[in-house]
Amino acid sequence: MRDFKEALTERVKETERIIEDYLPPVKGRQETILEAMAYSMKAGGKRLRPLLLSETCRLFGGEEKEAAPFMAAIEMIHTSSLIHDDLPCMDNDLYRRGKESTWARFGEDMGVLAGDALIVEAFAVAARAFMTTAHPERVAKAIRILAEKTGIYGMIGGQVVDVELTDLQISKDTLDFIYRLKTGALLEASMMIGAALAGADEAELEKIGQIALDVGVAFQIQDDILDVTSSQEVLGKPVGSDEKNHKTTYVTLEGIHRARAEVERLSEEAIGLLASLEGKNEFLEELIRMLITRER
Ligand code: IPE
Ligand code: IPE
Ligand code: MG
Ligand code: MG
Ligand code: MG
Repeated sequence: MRDFKEALTERVKETERIIEDYLPPVKGRQETILEAMAYSMKAGGKRLRPLLLSETCRLFGGEEKEAAPFMAAIEMIHTSSLIHDDLPCMDNDLYRRGKESTWARFGEDMGVLAGDALIVEAFAVAARAFMTTAHPERVAKAIRILAEKTGIYGMIGGQVVDVELTDLQISKDTLDFIYRLKTGALLEASMMIGAALAGADEAELEKIGQIALDVGVAFQIQDDILDVTSSQEVLGKPVGSDEKNHKTTYVTLEGIHRARAEVERLSEEAIGLLASLEGKNEFLEELIRMLITRER
């Protein structure tokens, strides 16, 4: 699949250009926090969420130009979640994306503030889409999805339950609830926003949401697997973080073999649902397939 890898490298580069375009300049009295924001945003990362957003937009016949502000916005929200997740009061981790984590580099105070600022900046950037769009109602819907999937009923809600139940023995249902929210919700946001911007109808949006949830839960289970099987050099973040924090994960609950099988089952289910849609996007299908075997 050499063509896919080449295309992926190219699209990641393009995504990084878009992200940089929307980052606020590092200057003025607030320079420290602006530097912390740029530090975490430019540190690398797979850029999976903006890629899913633009590819889903393409799947429904939309254009990347329309998606660009939302690509930057979703990566800002995701990055804020990583900055906060690494804080001493949360997972207390020192490395992220191959560098010192934001709080370790800039202090805990700036870590909290940089994460907050990225969430707010994401909505400011997304709102810029109103100035260029011919479909303001689609932009409004996309912003609503972004807020819903970031907040209490999305990523933040998932992190709340994850943190609250640390140290406790939890059921598979509860773990599933956590994964659908803490990780699934931002993947749902990515794909549903891409679809909404391209004018997908409610039924299509619902199906895309289901695909994204499957991919999201599979993605988190693979993240749990890599936390036990990988290395800091490959991952760019510490391994053994879950054990250190006494987290119940899919791996501790079901064992590594069943965890691997579940990643595959969920990903195949997502690809099957994707194939049942009218439009086609082979790159998107390959991207989802790649997540099953990803090593970082
Ligand atoms: C890490 O997300 C946090 C999870 C939801 C598992 P990614 O693995 O997408 O992190 P980056 O963006 O590549 O650094
Ligand atoms: C966090 O899950 C998901 C987020 C919303 C940030 P993890 O705590 O497992 O993510 P990593 O392993 O630190 O990236
Ligand atoms: Mg965590
Ligand atoms: Mg963590
Ligand atoms: Mg993890």
